[in-house]
Amino acid sequence: MIAGEHVILRAFEREDAERCYRWMNDPNIVRTLKSRYPIAFQNEIEWLDRAMHPSPSERHFAIERKDDRSHVGNASIHDIDWVSRTGEFGLFIGEPSAWNRGFGTDAIVTLVRFAFDEMNLRKLRIHIFDYNDRAKHILETHGFVQEGRLAREFYREGSYHDIVILSIFRDGAPEETRS
Ligand SMILES: CC(C)(COP(=O)(O)OP(=O)(O)OC[C@H]1O[C@@H](n2cnc3c(N)ncnc32)[C@H](O)[C@@H]1OP(=O)(O)O)[C@@H](O)C(=O)NCCC(=O)NCCS
Repeated sequence: MIAGEHVILRAFEREDAERCYRWMNDPNIVRTLKSRYPIAFQNEIEWLDRAMHPSPSERHFAIERKDDRSHVGNASIHDIDWVSRTGEFGLFIGEPSAWNRGFGTDAIVTLVRFAFDEMNLRKLRIHIFDYNDRAKHILETHGFVQEGRLAREFYREGSYHDIVILSIFRDGAPEETRS
């Protein structure tokens, strides 16, 4: 288990399936992800099975509150390149009662620390929709820098939206040295 200040990142268990299924069909969550279609419970079980037996290029975590040990969200690091030591991550707090209480921020900080200090990655990136102001606020407050933009990349709710790529380096390399 990976302990942050307010959350713990742990391995998935089969019992997590119903929560994951509920969250992956919640419009509040879905609008921040690339997922488009309703997800069947069986698909979620299959996803969970893969998350519990990950390929070398991915790792998945359930986010638990430290205080009551309830499962409130999911996180993953994927597209890991072990030669370049880079990876992409994604994360959400699915449980509405846990929103805006600092758990998302702590999960991000904890995941980044684990990726750098334990997995020995040196750079992490994330793709988010330009309209996801909350995620941008948290990421930029915690050292992520916007490194790219995919203009009008994703069609949703009747219009095209930009996707921004934010990244963070382990050594905190300033933007001008990035190449
Ligand atoms: C992004 C997410 C993980 C944040 O989790 P959370 O636990 O609700 O967020 P926190 O309580 O830790 O932090 C919220 C911060 O966003 C700020 N915020 C909230 N709404 C905002 C908005 N519309 N615009 C800008 N900032 C906003 C809050 O003021 C707070 O900032 P502060 O700590 O500086 O005061 C959660 O909203 C989520 O799961 N979203 C869907 C998935 C997603 O967007 N994933 C992207 C990964 S970062």
